[in-house]
Amino acid sequence: MKMRTLTSFAGVVALVVLTGCQGTPKEKTPIHVNPNMDMQPKYLPQAESDFFANGSTNQPKVEGTVARGQLKEDDAYYRGMDPRTGKPVTENPVPLTEEGLLRGQERYNIYCTVCHGATGNGKSLVVERGFLPPPDFHTDLIRNYPDGHIYDVITNGIRNMPSYAAQIPVEDRWQIVHYLRALQRSQHATITDVPEDLRDRLR
Ligand code: HEC
Repeated sequence: MKMRTLTSFAGVVALVVLTGCQGTPKEKTPIHVNPNMDMQPKYLPQAESDFFANGSTNQPKVEGTVARGQLKEDDAYYRGMDPRTGKPVTENPVPLTEEGLLRGQERYNIYCTVCHGATGNGKSLVVERGFLPPPDFHTDLIRNYPDGHIYDVITNGIRNMPSYAAQIPVEDRWQIVHYLRALQRSQHATITDVPEDLRDRLR
């Protein structure tokens, strides 16, 4: 027999030996070679339990309590709303940093460019393929939107735009708002936005 045939044969024998007995009904309790971690005294979600009165491992929330980390009390941060006026916050509650802006750029390019285009002018691949054209971000209307409104659009969607709350965490939404503002500024920049020592190069 050639070496390869021999190896294949050994493989088949090993398979039969190792798995052959599984699933066959037996009289005696099978030997459990290594019981470690196979049988743990723990509750699985939505399993039966005779310990709790409702017969389930799942327990309802205790009334009047909030789970740790789920308070979300800060209206401006979580909802983009000013609690005093009930209107969208005018200013991004997350301070502007270079690192954050780069994060916003990255997230914008991942989630928004497909529809809004890399510069935010609404010209994009999906529009070429027939999707409803989104608005140009560089109009006075959108430039004058409060930051909280843009946050709300990402969070809840608007008319033909779906919500991106499931894909984009709160902190990233605010960084995208920063980046969208930077995009808007880039399309309305004047010579005074350029550092003085670099202005000559553009003149
Ligand atoms: C699937 C395509 C699509 C994606 C992805 C998308 N948008 Fe939109 N967006 C739209 C469309 C379409 C509209 C116009 C909605 C309408 O008026 O019906 C819109 C509108 C908007 C508006 C204007 C809202 C208003 O009040 O007029 C903003 C701001 C906006 N999008 C931001 C974003 C940001 C930021 C992202 C990325 C997180 C994003 N969009 C991702 C399609 C998209």
